[in-house]
Amino acid sequence: MSTIDNQYKKTQNDILARVAKAENLSELNELRIAVLGKNGEFTAILKSLKDVPVEQKAAVGKQVNDIKVAIEESLAIKQKAFEEIELAKRLVEEKIDISIDKPQIGLGALHPINQTKQRISDFFISMGFLVADSPEIETEYYNFEALNTPSDHPARDTQDTFFVGNGILLRSQTSSGQIRLMQSPNIKPPIKLICPGKVYRSDAVDATHSPMFHQMEGLVVDKGITLCDLKGMLDLFAKEFFGVNTKTRFRPSYFPFTEPSVEVDASCFICGGTGIDKNRGDGIDSCSVCKGTGWIEILGAGMVNRKVLVNCGIDPDIYTGFAFGMGLDRITNILHAIKDLRVVFENDIRFLNQFKGVNSI
Ligand code: DAH
Repeated sequence: MSTIDNQYKKTQNDILARVAKAENLSELNELRIAVLGKNGEFTAILKSLKDVPVEQKAAVGKQVNDIKVAIEESLAIKQKAFEEIELAKRLVEEKIDISIDKPQIGLGALHPINQTKQRISDFFISMGFLVADSPEIETEYYNFEALNTPSDHPARDTQDTFFVGNGILLRSQTSSGQIRLMQSPNIKPPIKLICPGKVYRSDAVDATHSPMFHQMEGLVVDKGITLCDLKGMLDLFAKEFFGVNTKTRFRPSYFPFTEPSVEVDASCFICGGTGIDKNRGDGIDSCSVCKGTGWIEILGAGMVNRKVLVNCGIDPDIYTGFAFGMGLDRITNILHAIKDLRVVFENDIRFLNQFKGVNSI
């Protein structure tokens, strides 16, 4: 080995030893500049190559280049090692501990009114009904006029309405949905729809009234629909909802948008329609749910008034239909023997927790 070889070997060993000794990234960077930088030690050797005699140039050039590669490799390996250490350190330092002190959030559940809505919807969906939506902010036309309730109609007085102005109001009944849906260009008879949602009336708040409550509207329009169809369907509904032995009765009533109109009662599921409940536990025998009558009013219904069909562009000489509307809050209260409607809307978690997983009577 020539002196020059020895010298190169020494330089290489020396530099590699310094690389090995570097303790962190910044030391390594300093070393890199000191060795391979513009004025670096090894750069000087590279520069000196021009003075090597021509016949030795190839051999020496290769040797120096090999050393350069070795230095670069050792720097790269060391750099990678430092970077890995640094990353591991950051991963530990910057770790977000998501397990400590998390607030206890209980599992949610459907609100009792939504449970009722769901159960009733499921029944009608099983009978082939579609579930439709309709605006809560309505016009007088949809909420009243098209439902055969002109402004001088006495029926308007029974629905103390929140008027927003300019013929706009908060719908007082989901019946407005009937009109919107029948007038929709996408909907043609045969029609089988339910339309659940919030309605608003300017009522004082008490145990049985709230300015906001929930209804579900039902509508069937087809050729040859009769009151018998309405009766059959609602009878099935009552049996499904309140129990197989439930009976229904129809009482004549009046709604501007149906003719004839009826009010539908179901026999009381608590006293079996007898009006007597020996299990009350307060010495009184009269059933508290049906108030001793044996019957629970569940909804209003009727055959869709011809005028309403005409207002919706449906020929009443070809098509007939029935409609019904029920109060979901009322039915929820009856089902769960809730005496005061206000607790249903207070959203007290202790009250709501009682309805977890409750979905039947
Ligand atoms: N809209 C009525 C109300 O709020 C309920 C109702 C009665 C709806 C008869 C109907 C119906 O569709 O046919 O009191």
